[in-house]
Amino acid sequence: MCGIIGVCQNNSKIKIGKIVFDALSRLEYRGYDSVGIATITENGILLEKDAGKIGDVGKKLKFEQIEGNTAIGHSRWATHGPPSQKNSHPHSSMSDRVVIVHNGIIENYLELRERYTGKGYVFKSQTDTEIIPHFLEEELKNGKNMEQAILQLTSEIKGTYALVITHTDEPDKIYALRKDNPLVLGISNDGNYCASDIPAFLPYTKEVIIMKDQELAILEPHRYTIKKLPSLTVIDRKPHTVTWTPEAAQKGGFPHYMLKEIHEQQKVLSFQLATQNDIFGKIAEMVNDAEKVILVAAGTAYYASLNAYHTFPEYGKKVTIPAIAAEWDTVKPLVDDNTLILAVSQSGETLDTMKAIKDARERNAKVASIVNVTGSSLTTISDEVAYIHAGPEIGVAATKTYSAQSYAVWRVAHALANINGTLDKNEMKLFSRTINEVPQIVQKTVTAAEAQARDLAGWFKNKHSAFYLGRGVSHITALEGALKMKEISYIHAEAYPAGESKHGPIALIQPDYPVVFSIPDDRHRNKMIGSVQEMKARGATTIGIVDEYDNEMKSILDHAFEIPTGYGKFLTPITYNIPQQLLAYYTSVSVGANPDMPRNLAKSVTVE
Ligand code: F6R
Repeated sequence: MCGIIGVCQNNSKIKIGKIVFDALSRLEYRGYDSVGIATITENGILLEKDAGKIGDVGKKLKFEQIEGNTAIGHSRWATHGPPSQKNSHPHSSMSDRVVIVHNGIIENYLELRERYTGKGYVFKSQTDTEIIPHFLEEELKNGKNMEQAILQLTSEIKGTYALVITHTDEPDKIYALRKDNPLVLGISNDGNYCASDIPAFLPYTKEVIIMKDQELAILEPHRYTIKKLPSLTVIDRKPHTVTWTPEAAQKGGFPHYMLKEIHEQQKVLSFQLATQNDIFGKIAEMVNDAEKVILVAAGTAYYASLNAYHTFPEYGKKVTIPAIAAEWDTVKPLVDDNTLILAVSQSGETLDTMKAIKDARERNAKVASIVNVTGSSLTTISDEVAYIHAGPEIGVAATKTYSAQSYAVWRVAHALANINGTLDKNEMKLFSRTINEVPQIVQKTVTAAEAQARDLAGWFKNKHSAFYLGRGVSHITALEGALKMKEISYIHAEAYPAGESKHGPIALIQPDYPVVFSIPDDRHRNKMIGSVQEMKARGATTIGIVDEYDNEMKSILDHAFEIPTGYGKFLTPITYNIPQQLLAYYTSVSVGANPDMPRNLAKSVTVE
């Protein structure tokens, strides 16, 4: 949801416009309907912005030629007002003294807009954001300095924000602050940076500080200061070094980030396997100690969390309640000090998830979280954090992080089965073997399924609607397969537990209607034969993901993707999902869409 960047540099080797342009290109996954840049020059603020893709706008407005020491930039995901030149950020104050970029939503902007219109301020855009530069200018006019003006602003605006501000009175300074929206600092000898996400400045520095809510950073070329709001007391916080490489945030020869990220999954899972052990045992102990577990997450991360719903009752005999973060209100009356919340989030910044977790904390629940981004907001309010170590995921649609989140959940389930002795020796052995071998199974499946998915996509691209069906834990696979297909190829796709499909959805089946089945060799397999037959009898085209030795199933299905045999019971929502990722990717490419940047979507949803 909008990418923001601020640069204060003392390095004349690279033009500041290029730094901002490259940073916005790396942040484009956060928002991509408009872009803009502002620098402070001897003659005041230079502001260039327009609606359109970053590459097109950047070239048209010659971003890379822009010089200076201080600049701010923005890539927009529209909320208030459609994409247009006027609604693009940065927004400047009436006398062009203050210029800002914003990620978030100012809820009381209409009331403030009325107040400032009454004072003679003229608004150029329809955005909620434009109130901010006018507000700050008015405070400066009244004799306050920028810190005091910001303090006044934060006492009056309601909503969420990561804000980057610069002004002509202090051309070498950038002010950056946050409440409920992500903001990170990059520290280096050549200059200092602030941004919505680390890849923005990764080529220039790996020294990172994660800003917390109600903190203000003041950046200058040679130093940075962090202050607590509203006290303005200085906080002593040193940067930590991130291990992400700039290459990790590039396409590495693949046509899209999404395909690269699908191919990276073995590496990601192997890394998680090699680097983390204790944390899953610790979280399993927390599950055991709790009276009940509530799962909180959104979208794909929610589906990954459902792996706990399908395993904790069996392996830990634990009541496990899944909750979509945006629906938190429904479950919150159940939360008390005997509740463990298991939160799953790639970004660790999703607002719905954060709000739910903050509320759970107030109700004295314990919180364990599964997160990708180190130091993100969710990690700061959790009792225990298991990092999935997936590296930056630039494709808007989650792929490698879904697998890595699911893997982490299964590893908690594995520890839980170990502690509680809920599986017999042979099953436990197979469970452990599957945990160890899943990275290889994933790689084998990517290799085996890719060409087949590409071919099938040529047929799928002409469909308007599809079903994804699975039973038990494979319902998760169906949910994730349908979400991926609809979000990047715009073909309507719906997931159901296979047994439920005959209670209504089957009415939609007509000749050649696509139905994708996930059919591991588990306790539900035999019932799935019936589900496939029901769909076939009505003319559906059946596509199954099956065990490679399941010849019976393959003979019934119209198309079959094969998964290495012998791992039927454990971790199948990871392995059986791989062909679905590839099918969605190639269908998206076949319909002429951009799988990395699906329309209307943005990575890291920081609005409610
Ligand atoms: C879908 C997708 C989203 C995210 C969801 C949660 O492909 O990526 O559904 O999973 O917005 O985001 P995080 O995991 O950052 O909390």
